[in-house]
Amino acid sequence: MVNWAFCAALAGVASATVAPGFPVQANADLNVTWANNNVNAPGELLSLADTAFAPSQISAPVWTPGGHAILMLVDLDVPRNSTRVQFLHWLTANVTMPSTDTQTLKLENPSKDLAPYLRPAPPLHDIPHKYTLLLFAQPENFTVPARFKSLLKSRVGWDTAAFVNATGLGSALGADWIRVQNTGNETMANATASATPTATPTNYAGVAGVTEPRAWMGALVVAGLIAVFL
Ligand SMILES: *[C@@H]1O[C@H](CO)[C@@H](O)[C@H](O)[C@H]1NC(C)=O
Ligand SMILES: *[C@@H]1O[C@H](CO)[C@@H](O)[C@H](O)[C@H]1NC(C)=O
Ligand SMILES: *[C@@H]1O[C@H](CO)[C@@H](O)[C@H](O)[C@H]1NC(C)=O
Ligand SMILES: *[C@@H]1O[C@H](CO)[C@@H](O)[C@H](O)[C@H]1NC(C)=O
Ligand SMILES: *[C@@H]1O[C@H](CO)[C@@H](O)[C@H](O)[C@H]1NC(C)=O
Ligand SMILES: *[C@@H]1O[C@H](CO)[C@@H](O)[C@H](O)[C@H]1NC(C)=O
Ligand SMILES: *[C@@H]1O[C@H](CO)[C@@H](O)[C@H](O)[C@H]1NC(C)=O
Repeated sequence: MVNWAFCAALAGVASATVAPGFPVQANADLNVTWANNNVNAPGELLSLADTAFAPSQISAPVWTPGGHAILMLVDLDVPRNSTRVQFLHWLTANVTMPSTDTQTLKLENPSKDLAPYLRPAPPLHDIPHKYTLLLFAQPENFTVPARFKSLLKSRVGWDTAAFVNATGLGSALGADWIRVQNTGNETMANATASATPTATPTNYAGVAGVTEPRAWMGALVVAGLIAVFL
């Protein structure tokens, strides 16, 4: 049996494995596996290949009595306008935990993702980008406020704190973070570097753009969107 610690009871207990400088805190560590790579230490540097698809397994030591949760993956380091801004890589709701013994999360069908998974693709030779994965209890009747709808598509300039505030998500149940760097030593499968970007990036030394929603999204790839990112 698992000894359940619920979100309310955990408020204020910060183990907070969010990336340094991340705008919101979390209460517990998620256990996240990317491809076959189980993240041991928060902030571990993963390969581009390991992060080509959304995590293969996520387990959480805490859960919500509401029964549904939200997962959000955010890059903190996207160069824009002479600074670094957030980029939303993934937002999915209606996540469940079928077995509290294994603590393994069951994800919603990816066709229902609020923002389909996009693989990390930092600019070539840029610093390692920091990606934080957050789990929130899903409020009943959760919806995305109108003013965030276009950001679900454009992704860049995402504001985690404002979104959390606007939707009443509260303190994250759990989190984990990783780093990914584009050293040029790895090629990215299915990269679409020649695709036309929808926005002109600034401060880019060079970029490999990528369109990579979750594997089984197949043809639904958001081709116009990507091209030049993070
Ligand atoms: C994390 O998950 C992996 C894969 O299921 C498992 O092997 C490992 O024991 C878990 N680690 C912890 C600390 O629970
Ligand atoms: C969660 O699932 C329910 C039932 O399918 C659906 O009505 C609702 O829109 C979903 N919520 C989100 C945020 O996707
Ligand atoms: C959720 O929506 C249902 C149906 O519209 C409503 O009866 C219920 O009060 C809502 N719950 C919350 C917490 O807003
Ligand atoms: C960059 O600056 C332009 C012009 O001020 C602004 O319209 C745009 O929203 C900014 N982009 C980001 C991601 O902050
Ligand atoms: C949070 O929401 C309140 C009320 O809606 C607003 O006054 C405040 O500025 C918001 N804070 C952030 C960081 O968005
Ligand atoms: C990339 O490959 C070169 C040549 O094999 C090697 O010297 C360098 O250390 C590698 N860089 C990284 C970050 O792995
Ligand atoms: C690349 O695309 C092929 C064909 O669509 C697909 O089978 C494969 O899983 C993709 N690989 C990656 C790493 O995205």
